[in-house]
Amino acid sequence: MGSVLSLRGVNFQVGDKRLIDDVSMEIEQGSCFCIVGPSGSGKSTLIRLFNRLNVKTSGDILYRDHPIEFYPVSQLRHRIGMVFQRTTVFPGTVADNLKLALQFQNAKTIESSRFTTVLQQAGLKPAYLSENAELLSGGEQQRLGIARALVIEPDVLCLDEPTSALDVEAAHQVIDTVKSLRGKMTVVMVNHRLEEVEEVATHVALIDGGKIIEMGTSDEFFQHPQTDRLKAFLAAYRRKGGAS
Ligand SMILES: Nc1ncnc2c1ncn2[C@@H]1O[C@H](COP(=O)(O)OP(=O)(O)OP(=O)(O)O)[C@@H](O)[C@H]1O
Ligand SMILES: [Mg+2]
Repeated sequence: MGSVLSLRGVNFQVGDKRLIDDVSMEIEQGSCFCIVGPSGSGKSTLIRLFNRLNVKTSGDILYRDHPIEFYPVSQLRHRIGMVFQRTTVFPGTVADNLKLALQFQNAKTIESSRFTTVLQQAGLKPAYLSENAELLSGGEQQRLGIARALVIEPDVLCLDEPTSALDVEAAHQVIDTVKSLRGKMTVVMVNHRLEEVEEVATHVALIDGGKIIEMGTSDEFFQHPQTDRLKAFLAAYRRKGGAS
């Protein structure tokens, strides 16, 4: 299977600070590619380069074999959806939120049955459509954020720490949602909770100081780490008994 996203020697610099440093990676069709690393290591900065929320300084980013600059930004953001750490819901019902997401993307109007489908994909009952979105719990709002991203029918779904603001149970529900999307689309997830990454990832990259320290399949990453840095990172995680 081919790469959906290819990064080749990508740098991102702000002033004299190099925030992303010579990053190369291939994200394969249908994979669940997870990015882990300490706070401030550049994880969010990196994925924001994919749909030009950040604009790379040098190097190449290819989406489906074409440089991302080849696509109109709106089309790129349509194809590469993002869900952030905390979903801000719009006032109104869950259905209003899904409709607004479509309007923001100038997407075609869709059949209302699609709303039911994306809610189910995101792990919310269809009955929620008429609920006041602002009264949903944090976990439910996060799943609404995922539903809002899915309604646009992205090719790649990027999730930036989708569980970090949630308690353990709500986080589990979001991870189950991510699991159910695996294989149906390409998922890129930033997450510092390694137990969640271990559960869903097909591939993992450790980033620190804006550089890729090590990356590989989930099995290579967790079972056969090569660098001392990754070995130490995994040891710290296992010492904590898997909690983060
Ligand atoms: N546009 C910008 N201008 C200047 N500095 C920036 C910019 N964007 C990010 N940074 C800096 O880049 C570094 C990496 O930030 P980033 O948000 O990518 O980290 P992160 O790995 O996502 O961390 P966390 O796990 O805390 O979310 C930080 O020091 C941040 O302050
Ligand atoms: Mg971040």
